Amino acid sequence: MFEKICDNEIYKILYNGEWINSRNNKTIEILSPVDNSLVGKIQALTKEEVDEIIKNSKESQKAWGNLPISERASILHKAAAIIEENADELSQILQLEIAKDIESSQSEIKRTADFIRFTADEGKHMQGETILSDNFPGFKRDRVSVVYRVPVGVVLAISPFNYPINLSASKIAPALIAGNSVILKPPTQGAISALYLAETFNKAGLPKGILNTITGKSSEIGDYLITHKDINFINFTGSTEVGKHIAEIAGMVPMLMELGGKDAAIVLEDADLNEAAKLIVSGAYNYSGQRCTAVKRVLALEAVADKLIQNMTQEITKLKVGAPKEGAKITPLINSAAADFVQELIDDAINKGAKLIIGNKREGNLIYPTLFDYVTTAMRLAWEEPFGPILPVIRVQNVDEAIAIANKSQYGLQASVFTQNIKEAFYVADKLEVGTVHINNKTERGPDHFPFLGVKASGLGTQGIRYSIEAMSRPKVVVLNIN
Ligand code: G3P
Repeated sequence: MFEKICDNEIYKILYNGEWINSRNNKTIEILSPVDNSLVGKIQALTKEEVDEIIKNSKESQKAWGNLPISERASILHKAAAIIEENADELSQILQLEIAKDIESSQSEIKRTADFIRFTADEGKHMQGETILSDNFPGFKRDRVSVVYRVPVGVVLAISPFNYPINLSASKIAPALIAGNSVILKPPTQGAISALYLAETFNKAGLPKGILNTITGKSSEIGDYLITHKDINFINFTGSTEVGKHIAEIAGMVPMLMELGGKDAAIVLEDADLNEAAKLIVSGAYNYSGQRCTAVKRVLALEAVADKLIQNMTQEITKLKVGAPKEGAKITPLINSAAADFVQELIDDAINKGAKLIIGNKREGNLIYPTLFDYVTTAMRLAWEEPFGPILPVIRVQNVDEAIAIANKSQYGLQASVFTQNIKEAFYVADKLEVGTVHINNKTERGPDHFPFLGVKASGLGTQGIRYSIEAMSRPKVVVLNIN
């Protein structure tokens, strides 16, 4: 099924419905974080090639935008079916290229097919409205505004390494159903997985040029691509640092951004501590903590901290550490720089007096799940996003102290509050400066039709299937004068 995308370990790019090589014959090696073996090589495109691709995307979009939504939807349904038919191969490439554990890889694939199907159906229900003029003071009923949605044009989708298939599809599918053409710029590590995804859309019968891919060195083509005059929308998931850079240079281009987070789990005195411990551990350590919505700090009331930590430690010891193919849950981090950074945060916490409960063991990029107690606000671990399997517990005296520390973060993605008291839960939820608060659950994005957003340094705009379709389309207003 995927034979066209690769020749002799060299992965091509999708351009105008064909898989082709860059003319400059330059490639980038993708090595597996699991064992450093070569996964493949990807094309390093030039600025001239970027120009050609964007031109092609722009020209192709018009016909696609005019195609009835039901026809666009049926192509998306076919892509979802192809993904499901090839689930094993797609999940294996994730395990190899980004060291994702088997269960998370399989669930990324299934979730992607479900996402695309739901998007196709949601698109069919997008409707406009008519508005009468006399609703506004001083106007007679002599005008009717007919409002419907039209595509924005060419959407640039920039996806991250941690969900190269799902977070590419969650940009591509809503953009396509809204009638846009899409240029996918996948992460370098994760690019091969994303190219597999692109082929599923291609195979499903997407017309030529509606989905093109660009791979290459961000240092050479990144800014050029982002500032290109024919890019009409940027949909980005990645670090806050890169997100801020994009926002600074892109000018007046609408954007959706999902950036970093430092999601807090606040555990109150009346929480079910068994349940809270299980949920926090899975929220913090799934895919080795390499998720923007991972639980990244626990703010525990002093009275329950000991028991909570004891329960969490028991859960952590159950996590198998190793390679995805061995069935491990904690797998090597994406690269050695990522592991070095996590180690820095661990060392800083130890030097400043945090109590190591479990972990702080490293083999190459593999960091064992690490838990700290007595982390204070003077430590980097209280504020920085590790993107690794490490969790600080900060003890607090009361709920308002927890809220204050939670809100002091530069990030505002999500938070959790664990309590049996619904009034208290809403009190906390209302005060937290984040996009979403989960009551008695870990932080997480799904289900994918819920709105998903970050405030402060965590993002821009709102995702979620309907919200993403709306973001990547705009109202068209035609006013009929009836007198
Ligand atoms: O890290 C990216 C993000 O979208 C997280 O999704 O499903 O792991 O909460 P999820």
